[in-house]
Amino acid sequence: MTRLGGPSVVVVEDADELGRVGADLVADELRRTPGAWVSVATGETPMGMYAELAARRRSGLLDTGGLTPVQLDEYLGLEPDDRRTFFGWMRRSFLEPLGIADERVVRLPLDGDLAAACAAFDRTLDARGGLDLAILGIGTNGHLGFNEPPVDPGAPTREVGLSTATIDANARYWGDVNDVPTRAVTTGMRQLLAARAIVMVVSGPTKREIVHRALEEPVTPQVPASFLQETGAAVTVIVDREAWGEGDPS
Ligand code: PGA
Repeated sequence: MTRLGGPSVVVVEDADELGRVGADLVADELRRTPGAWVSVATGETPMGMYAELAARRRSGLLDTGGLTPVQLDEYLGLEPDDRRTFFGWMRRSFLEPLGIADERVVRLPLDGDLAAACAAFDRTLDARGGLDLAILGIGTNGHLGFNEPPVDPGAPTREVGLSTATIDANARYWGDVNDVPTRAVTTGMRQLLAARAIVMVVSGPTKREIVHRALEEPVTPQVPASFLQETGAAVTVIVDREAWGEGDPS
């Protein structure tokens, strides 16, 4: 289903279809741009898509040899070998299955002068013309990466404090809400919105309200994902029936 002049919304019936449709889009992008720089979300929603991409690679249908993954976001204050880092999750779900060495990842800075290092990260992306593709989820509060509301669409890559909504939502990965880190680094809105293409995956009833606010209500800093309505990027939102509800996108 397509809406002219804004994000294309594809409603899928289940997780398998979400994985297949998402993998089709990413695979098309890699065929068009074999050396693509791709911002890679962790989170539950894109996992089926990454598994599908890995299966295609094993069958010889997908070449990831030129792909440069770019880290989307990361917690601060964890040991580098902590399994709960997003980098560790990215390694297990994306890098290893797709045969990509850790060293190929454009990583976010986690220590030192973070402001200067985040500015250098943005300069690195700018120098090669920005992201070719951003694979994103959406938070229940509308965040993209860890760009928490309210946010400016020009926000740079930076250190952020996590919102209560995000900490509560991520507690399921940590066992106890008090163990969830409260600070993080995120690729900024400016880089994400300037990507040539964006694929956002949305699943489950907890995302229903926010996905409709983001796509159908006026653009607002209170819903970071609403800025997807205004980018020049080719935006595709793949949303399952549980998240979208009945009816078709208009
Ligand atoms: P999820 O995370 O895919 O685990 O729901 C999405 C997000 O918080 O951006």
